[in-house]
Amino acid sequence: MNNKAFYKGRVVVITGSSKGIGKAIALKIGQYGAKVVLNGRSSEALLSTEEELKRAGINCLTVQADVSLIEGAKKLIEEAVIGFGKIDVVINNSGIAVHGLFTETEPTTWQKVIQSNTLSSIYTTYFAIPYLKSTHGSIVFISSIGGRAGLPGHGAYSFSKMPLTSLTQTLDVELHEDQIHVGIVYVGFTRNDPNKTITDGTGKTKRLQPRNMNLLMEPEKVAEAVANLIRKRKKKKVLTLIGHAQTFFYQFPLIRRLIMKSMLKKYYNMYAD
Ligand SMILES: NC(=O)c1ccc[n+]([C@@H]2O[C@H](COP(=O)([O-])OP(=O)(O)OC[C@H]3O[C@@H](n4cnc5c(N)ncnc54)[C@H](OP(=O)(O)O)[C@@H]3O)[C@@H](O)[C@H]2O)c1
Repeated sequence: MNNKAFYKGRVVVITGSSKGIGKAIALKIGQYGAKVVLNGRSSEALLSTEEELKRAGINCLTVQADVSLIEGAKKLIEEAVIGFGKIDVVINNSGIAVHGLFTETEPTTWQKVIQSNTLSSIYTTYFAIPYLKSTHGSIVFISSIGGRAGLPGHGAYSFSKMPLTSLTQTLDVELHEDQIHVGIVYVGFTRNDPNKTITDGTGKTKRLQPRNMNLLMEPEKVAEAVANLIRKRKKKKVLTLIGHAQTFFYQFPLIRRLIMKSMLKKYYNMYAD
């Protein structure tokens, strides 16, 4: 079965889909014929993305909600079911980027990143499972290559993504009898939206410098990989050459440390202003 046949009429909820990778996933899966539930905190970004999807002929609805809060995640799932009558797929994509050495990262910033990147996925998944049981649907977690190894200069971010691996493994077994598919995608360096922001160690939001590097993946390619993982009910996908190189080099601790040290040198000058 191809993606068009698979996605036709399926209801797909994507957290954090007003911008960036989440928006690319919404467009891709919507173009395959899915009904898409868009989510984000900013109503302005949501409205503009909704208009773009509708212009592309995609059947979508928007739920403005902060999924890092229990009531926000509950609202998203309830409004998705009210709007489209069922849920086939939940993609836990929303998240914030955080930058700072451990000693520069304040305890309140740790709280914020864990709430935004870890608890949001837990809350959304928790409220969605009863509906996914009746559709034998899919749960997907959008992690990062930083969720497979503790990245220097991004310790809080890495820490917040790592639990998604354990959650995937637990749910894969616990939900097997309910025929719910659970998968995880480790996304590598991807071309960002021009206005993408990053949180510094003190919790301030700053604009990120445009990425000037080779081997950046386009968000549309990430979206295609996510769409395929769901259709094939695959458990795991690692993206980008750097992601695959990481798997190989991490067998050798000395090389791993050298690579990490060189990353730490590049760690400064991330902000656009
Ligand atoms: N870009 C990369 O290179 C890269 C690499 C590896 C992994 N990832 C992961 O991919 C995912 C998407 O990243 P991105 O680069 O596309 O980020 P982005 O451009 O900053 O977009 C993030 C999206 O999530 C929403 N969002 C953030 N916090 C939210 C919350 N608490 N509740 C609801 N919506 C929320 C944002 O809208 P509002 O701000 O309006 O809420 C926005 O729609 C993240 O999980 C990220 O960690 C990205």
